[in-house]
Amino acid sequence: MSAAELEATAKAMVAKGKGILAIDESTPTIKKRFDTINFESTEENRRAYRDLLITNPGGKEFISGMILYDETIRQATSDGTPFAKALIDQGIMPGIKVDTGAKDFALHSGEKITEGLDGLRDRLAEYKSIGAKFAKWRAVITIGNNIPSQACIEANVHALARYAGLCQEAGIVPMVEPEVLMDADNTIERCYEVTEMTLSALFSALKSQDVSIEHTILKTNMVISGKQCSTQANVQEVADQTVRCLVKNVPAELPGIVFLSGGQSAELATAHLNAMNVSNPDLPWPLSFSYGRALQEPCLNAWGGKESNLKAAQKALLHRSKCNSLACSGAYNADMESAA
Ligand code: 13P
Repeated sequence: MSAAELEATAKAMVAKGKGILAIDESTPTIKKRFDTINFESTEENRRAYRDLLITNPGGKEFISGMILYDETIRQATSDGTPFAKALIDQGIMPGIKVDTGAKDFALHSGEKITEGLDGLRDRLAEYKSIGAKFAKWRAVITIGNNIPSQACIEANVHALARYAGLCQEAGIVPMVEPEVLMDADNTIERCYEVTEMTLSALFSALKSQDVSIEHTILKTNMVISGKQCSTQANVQEVADQTVRCLVKNVPAELPGIVFLSGGQSAELATAHLNAMNVSNPDLPWPLSFSYGRALQEPCLNAWGGKESNLKAAQKALLHRSKCNSLACSGAYNADMESAA
């Protein structure tokens, strides 16, 4: 493996004012998204949608990389350019989701374990030959009665470390994503506790498997109230608790941290990221974004599956990308939403 290549990729992923656009929904998940606009999920329709995201003029100013799904990395733009090449030609790095999904964790009701290690070395070699510069693996940690269990956290971080080692061996930067879900009725304090347990277990597993932290990107949830909780923490509390948890549990040598949106509205996800960067200009790592829904939702709604709405959809995506880019340096302002 080339350490210099990994270092350059990791740095570029979180370059100043840039973040990652996650468009790696699995086939069942993209169907759910298309259902919201009454659009059929055929292979061609999925290709057409990803085409508009990938070829969005101006996107490269705010987006350093896009995470693709296995089907997507094998598809091409309407003029026949493979998607990976179309990204590279714009100076955007192709990334690839390599886990094969979160499955029920044996003997642990309500908990998940992410699969996908079998054959991963060969799959990474192929993705690398197609142009992938980084990869993603998402572990899911659920908050509920007596969960998460220590066993669930340990099994998931062990798999994340094995995946990360294989990525680095292949010259691909691992984006390690332990997602503490925000769907339950838990308080922000409980989210803090579980996120802390998860992150501290993750970095011990990475270290014990000799994964180079300097060549790894963390993609994590924010510390936030569960969606069903009757008391919702405000923007500043989310920003403060998230940063406090990261400062305590994430090594300074990590090149960057990006957030998932996890079901937050597009504008709230931007406001949270902005508040973190306004209050903490001197953190050891850049704090940026790797949103799926919070970048795509306004775009998907503007498109509605209609060719005639393509420009409006791309404009909506560019607007969200720009707002989040500004949030990376604390320069976003909610007034920018009405001016759009
Ligand atoms: P959301 O931002 O929609 O949570 O998706 C990000 C992602 O890639 C989850 O794995």
